[in-house]
Amino acid sequence: MEHTQLEGNLIIRCETAGTSEWLVIHSINEEAFGRPDEADLVDNLRKEGVILASLVAELEEGIVGHIFFSRMYIETRNQSIAAAALAPIAVLPKHQRQGIGGRLIRHGLDLLRQRGEHIAIILGHPDYYPRFGFSCAKAESLESPFPPKSFMAMELVPGALNGLLGKVKYPAAFGLGR
Ligand SMILES: CC(C)(COP(=O)(O)OP(=O)(O)OC[C@H]1O[C@@H](n2cnc3c(N)ncnc32)[C@H](O)[C@@H]1OP(=O)(O)O)[C@@H](O)C(=O)NCCC(=O)NCCS
Repeated sequence: MEHTQLEGNLIIRCETAGTSEWLVIHSINEEAFGRPDEADLVDNLRKEGVILASLVAELEEGIVGHIFFSRMYIETRNQSIAAAALAPIAVLPKHQRQGIGGRLIRHGLDLLRQRGEHIAIILGHPDYYPRFGFSCAKAESLESPFPPKSFMAMELVPGALNGLLGKVKYPAAFGLGR
C-alpha cells in the first residue's frame, strides 16, 4: 500500500516488519487498552503467521494508532470460507476522538478489498462499528462464542455473506478453542 497523506499530518501505512516497530506497536496497544492482553495478541498472531494486514497511523511525533487483521474462517457444513478478523485496533488515549481510529478502519478495509478479501468480522462496540459497514444482522447466521450484540460482519464483496451458514474459527492466538 502506498503511504497515504491525510488531512493534517496523519499518515496511514503498513507496518514496517522488524522488532523496533513491533515494539512500538506493542506499547501503543498496551497503553490504549491499559493492559498487555491485546499487545500480546498481536505478537502471537504474527508468530502464528496469520497476519493479513497491520497498519499504523503516524503523526510527526511518531506512531499513535494501530490496526490488525488476521486470517479466520467460517466453517460451513462442507467448506471453510476465508474471512478477515479485525482485532485489535488501538489509538493512544491523547489522540482518541480525532478520527484516527476511523481512518485506520477505512484504510484497512480498503486494503483488504484490494487484496481480494470478501468478508470482515469484528467483535466490538455496536455503537462504533456500524458506521464502517459492519452489522450484527450480517453476522446472524454465523455461530460464535460472542454476544450477538457485539458480533458483527461486513461484506467486502457484495453478497459474500448471502446464504452463508457456519461457525467462526479464529486463529489459535485468540484462545477461543474450537
Ligand atoms: C476504539 C478506538 C480505536 C477508536 O479510536 P478513535 O481514534 O478514538 O476513533 P474515532 O475518532 O475515529 O471515532 C471516535 C468515535 O468513536 C466512538 N467510540 C470510540 N470507541 C468507542 C467504544 N469503545 N464504544 C463506543 N463508542 C466508541 C466515540 O464515541 C466517537 O464517536 P463520536 O465521534 O460519535 O463521539 C480508541 O478509542 C481506542 O484505542 N480505544 C481503546 C482500545 C479499544 O477499546 N479498542 C477497540 C476494541 S473493540
